[in-house]
Amino acid sequence: MDNSKFSGFYKKSPEERLKIIKELAKLTDEEAEILKKTGSLGMETADRMIENVVGTSEFPFGLGLHFLINGKDYVIPMCIEEPSVVAAASFSAKLARESGGFKTSSDDPVMIGQIQIMGFKNFQKAKKSILNNKEKIISKANERDSVLVSFGGGAKDLEVMKVDSKVGEMLIVHLLVDVRDAMGANAVNTMCEGISPLLEELTRGYVRLRIISNLADRRLARAKTIWKKEVLEKSTKGMMKGEEVVKAILEAYHLAVNDPYRCATHNKGIMNGVDAVVIATGNDFRAVEAGAHSFASITGKYKPLTKYHKNREGDLVGEIELPIAIGTVGGATRTKPEAKVALKILGVKTAKELSEVIAAVGLAQNFAALRALATEGIQRGHMRLHAKNIAITAGAKGDEIEKVSNKMTDEKNISVSRAKEILKEIRK
Ligand code: MEV
Repeated sequence: MDNSKFSGFYKKSPEERLKIIKELAKLTDEEAEILKKTGSLGMETADRMIENVVGTSEFPFGLGLHFLINGKDYVIPMCIEEPSVVAAASFSAKLARESGGFKTSSDDPVMIGQIQIMGFKNFQKAKKSILNNKEKIISKANERDSVLVSFGGGAKDLEVMKVDSKVGEMLIVHLLVDVRDAMGANAVNTMCEGISPLLEELTRGYVRLRIISNLADRRLARAKTIWKKEVLEKSTKGMMKGEEVVKAILEAYHLAVNDPYRCATHNKGIMNGVDAVVIATGNDFRAVEAGAHSFASITGKYKPLTKYHKNREGDLVGEIELPIAIGTVGGATRTKPEAKVALKILGVKTAKELSEVIAAVGLAQNFAALRALATEGIQRGHMRLHAKNIAITAGAKGDEIEKVSNKMTDEKNISVSRAKEILKEIRK
């Protein structure tokens, strides 16, 4: 590609940029049009959100149903490209209703800001100097965000740690900031930068990094529910006894406990649900992903984010605990139009409430995957939806979609070419 064409690219309008890339990548008119056709976001907003914009990209916006959380009904917006996820979460939630739904809890929305200090002479002296001036440092941090403080948030505490490394001894300050209903990265980063000169003065060292930690382990959300064995038996249409289903799910779970290869997939399934809600509400799914996986390995061993056991009645108890750093104010939660709608559908009042809803979805998602994997296998349901997508790709419309996908599923031959053939037959 001719790289000179990109000079000053960022200063151009999206239309001008699109023209350039159309030429360079030899896009057809149709292909260029795909990028140009923006959804609710609109080109102007998109262009203000990130750099070098030439279009927008969309996700299906589905609704997770049947969620009963702490006695309240929720409809849960989920944005994801993968078939089965929304159906699976809704299915689990429906089964969980039989025992009263999900019970959740969460920590205060406290994020950690890290300040890395190097070049000090004596760690203990530097640490003492910081701790002796704790109040002063905290109030200096809070000067940077009076709005957050007025809402009851702000820097609340700090901790000092030592990290030994190949390039020298480091003193790490953890600034603990209650970010209320925000995700918090902006507030925390601003505060970390704001207190750095004072920390340099106090330690006689120099500050290197000043940044939030995505291992948000002070901001954990939890959910718990019981899936009754009778309900589980019914869910297999009587193919398996309730006790057998509980046993099968526990066996599946214990592979994740003991094997990182399975555990990665186990946790991936949880994140299917978590990310779908995080994306629907305009939140930073990379931050939540980073938090979840680092928390999963915080003991030095990569662990499942969920836990299961059989209770005295022989029912299956499922629990989840993970960091969920999301907001209901700020960032894309307000700039992405559908994120605002998603929050309205959810009816959550605070980021804390949203984090608990997300935890419940993560648990529901994981249970659905384990149940399917441990009983009938995952492919049947998956394939039905996959066949529908293939039918649509082949050009099926309306009733044709069901007809084409059913035929392909029956034949166990799911491909665009077969879908086209079936379409031809139907349309004859
Ligand atoms: C697929 O996106 C997610 C699953 O693989 C999760 C799991 O195996 O637990 C089905």
